[in-house]
Order: sequence, then C-alpha cells, then structure tokens
Amino acid sequence: MSTQTEWETYREEAEHALAAAGLDEIAEERVRYLGRKSPLALALREVRDRETGMLLNGIRTRLEEAADERERSLAGDELDRRLREEVIDVTLPGEELPLGHLHPITQVRRAVEDAFLGLGYEVRDDREVETVEYNFDKLAFLPTHSARSPRDTFFFDETHVLRTETSPSQIHILEEKPPPIYMVSIGRVYRRDAITATRYPIFHQFEGLAVDKGITLADLKGTLLHVMRALYGPERRVRFRTHYFPFTEPSIEPDVSCGICGGEGCRTCKWSGWIEMGGAGMVDPQVLENVGLDPNEWGGFAFGCGLERTAQLRHFIPDIRALWEGDLRVLRQF
Ligand code: PHE
Repeated sequence: MSTQTEWETYREEAEHALAAAGLDEIAEERVRYLGRKSPLALALREVRDRETGMLLNGIRTRLEEAADERERSLAGDELDRRLREEVIDVTLPGEELPLGHLHPITQVRRAVEDAFLGLGYEVRDDREVETVEYNFDKLAFLPTHSARSPRDTFFFDETHVLRTETSPSQIHILEEKPPPIYMVSIGRVYRRDAITATRYPIFHQFEGLAVDKGITLADLKGTLLHVMRALYGPERRVRFRTHYFPFTEPSIEPDVSCGICGGEGCRTCKWSGWIEMGGAGMVDPQVLENVGLDPNEWGGFAFGCGLERTAQLRHFIPDIRALWEGDLRVLRQF
C-alpha cells in the first residue's frame, strides 16, 4: 500500500467498518485498523517523507475520532436500552413477610387480665415450685387429702411440689399485705394425669381472690357473671352448684350457659345447657386464721378456672392437646 488513493480507500473502508461495528465488534475493528500491527501503524513506522507522514497521521486522527465517536454512540444506545429494559416498578407490592401471632392461651390470659383490671384487681404471677405448706397445709387440705399423694402430684422431695393449682397465691398475697385485697393470679399448674383429649399434666389457671369487709356470695356471683360475659359474650348466664374444696366454705362449682345451644342442650354441654367452669366459694375461716386474719372481721371469696378450658370454649377446640402441640396449621386459626 503506497499510493494516496489506496490509503483513501483504507480510510473509507475503516470508517465504514467502525460506523457499522456493534458493541461486541468495535474494539476488534479499532485493533484491525489502528492497532500496533495494523497496516496503518506499520506504514507509519516506515514513513520517510513528510508528505506521507502528514497523510497517514491525518488518516489516523480521523479514524481514531471515528472509533471514539462510534464507541460513544454505542454506549449511549446501551444506556438507553438498559434504562428502557431494566425499569423497576416501585409501585409493585413487596414480598409479604409471614407475621406470627399470640398463642390462644396467651390471648385468653390477656383477656382475663383485661376483665379483672377493669374491676380494679391486681394481676400477679407466682412460683410454680411450691412447698407442701403453701400448696396444701395453709389451704386447709386435710392430711388425708388424695392430692397430697405422689400419685396425683409431682413431688421434688417431701416438702416441695410442682403446684397443683394457683390457690397458693391466696396465701402469698394475704401474708404479704393487709386487706382489702382484690387479685387475680395466672399461671401454670401441674398434675400427674395421663395425656388425653381432656387432660394434660401441665395447664394454666386463673385464680381470683377478694378479701374485704362484708363480702357475700352475691358478690362472687356478680363477679363471675361479669368475667364470664367478658370472656364469652354478653348473653351468658351463670349458675352455682354446691361442691367441696378444702379452702372454701361454702364451696360451689360455677357453670356458664352453653354458648353453642344457648342453653337448649347440645353435644358440647352434654344436653344440660350448662358448662362447668371451675371451682369457687367463700374463703374458709380456717384459711384466714392461717394467715393471721380475724374471720369475724374479714371475709371474702375465691375462684379458680382453667385457661385451656376457657380457650377451648371460646374457640370450640375439642381436644386440649391441640393447645400444646404447637402445630401451626391449628394455631393459625385462632
Ligand atoms: N383450686 C381449685 C381447683 O384447682 C379451684 C378453686 C379455686 C376452688 C378457688 C375454690 C376457690 O380445682
């Protein structure tokens, strides 16, 4: 290649190639026409006369400009394409993260707390490892009571048990401060029962205690009615049946009217129209004496109910085990 015309042809061909090169080819074309081993570079190294030098340098400058220009335009196109294709629609809804919720027992526990706080009661939570003295003796259990047997109760040693009920809270609060006392104690209790649809060796109770002057059975009934309606709805009625507990006299078992049949009788209430709610009664004078109070001056009522039972009745859960198995397919329903 030596004539001017031939170099003009080289330039035209190169300008064409550069102008037509795509993103993948432009670097290659630049090497082909301008690189160290290109005819142009080789010829420039051989240049002897000024004229040829000027011609070739002029061509090199033009081709470099053409290559730069093409690269700029390709980069601009590429940016346009990415701006067009890689749009992020910020208005699309995001990925939803699964949210947990409170276990039905915790929900019921809070509902119970709410109902009693509304009545001005204080809420407490006591120890689960109890002494025989507080679990039985001070609650006036006779020495022969069957709950004192290791067949019914979990013993650590002769004097320590897992509490079988929340009733020891009555003694604790009565020893801690003078009446008037209005408290509800909520927590776990333990009994040596085999696991069945209706029994579980661990469960929760809420225990109410009111000690004041001039308290009657009517106050107990009114309080239970209020709490049952708070837990189950305003249509519920409450009735009392006589019963026996070591630490209340008289003792009663409160029933709440069945929410499924409205009291007509159905399978859930075993055709009676009523559902058993727990135990209650007037605080036995012996219990007041055991904590140093004069039963002629002070009186009160107490009651205890199961939280699992409450949750089952609120949500119509037929099997108590569902509340302990932690199966999300079950728990998510409540
Ligand atoms: N502690 C009794 C039980 O677990 C219930 C109860 C509480 C009865 C308070 C009377 C008064 O069966």
